[in-house]
Amino acid sequence: MKITTIIENSLGDQKELYNEHGLSFFIETPDGNILFDTGKTGAFIENAKALGINLKKIDFLMLSHAHYDHCGGVKKFLNEFDVRPAFYVSEIFFANSEKYRCLDENKYKYIGIDFDENFIKEKKLNIHYVNEDMIKLNEKVYVFTNFEKTHDFEKLNPNMKFRKGEKYLLDHFDDEISLAVDTEKGLIVILGCSHPGVLNIIDTISKRTGKPIYGIIGGTHLIEADEERINKTIEKIKEKNIKMIGVSHCTGEKAIQSFKEKCDDFFVNCTGTILEL
Ligand SMILES: [Fe+2]
Ligand SMILES: [Fe+2]
Repeated sequence: MKITTIIENSLGDQKELYNEHGLSFFIETPDGNILFDTGKTGAFIENAKALGINLKKIDFLMLSHAHYDHCGGVKKFLNEFDVRPAFYVSEIFFANSEKYRCLDENKYKYIGIDFDENFIKEKKLNIHYVNEDMIKLNEKVYVFTNFEKTHDFEKLNPNMKFRKGEKYLLDHFDDEISLAVDTEKGLIVILGCSHPGVLNIIDTISKRTGKPIYGIIGGTHLIEADEERINKTIEKIKEKNIKMIGVSHCTGEKAIQSFKEKCDDFFVNCTGTILEL
């Protein structure tokens, strides 16, 4: 199995690749290829080419949640490529997709998606709405949603909202989905933004699968966390004996520095990283 980080905030040695505030993974498994998120602008398409990935060979298109930095490449991708991957999103992905950031009392910045359910239907993709706690996508991949919120200190950001009619409601991110890939070493958890809390997500996945977690990659959204939350999160991750910690995207510089100092097995999972598992 192979997991390629097609685009992400940071660049590694491959300076010819584009980076941007966003996330996109290509996951190759023996029975199907998955595009998990599409970054912000569609530049992931250029990167895929440069990385030797044939995006025509895609079986599943999955979106972790309805933020622009994960779904911004969807339109460009489906307009440019004549593909019909099975489309997986949360059951409430479209219903809660008018997402905003509250800048001050009456000022909201749109941070949602730029397409709707009809666009996906016009492209003739089969839409699979995820509402089950856990789905087995194929022999090696599980999809999760409805994360149990067991860590009280993983608070929601009060400025993250979604619009329903005239109202701006607090976003609980019940639309977030995460993946786990089963490898001989244990599960590799693939995170989008971890808005429900990275520990809530990984604990839910451990509990539902009964399998040890070998690695985590993706966004942890610690960018808005204070030092106490960052320290607590890292402590708990270390307790779980997770061997491969390759977080990035919305993890933020401060948390990345702490991970570097405290975890021997930490690496910045930058644009172009290929993990063969
Ligand atoms: Fe997000
Ligand atoms: Fe994000």
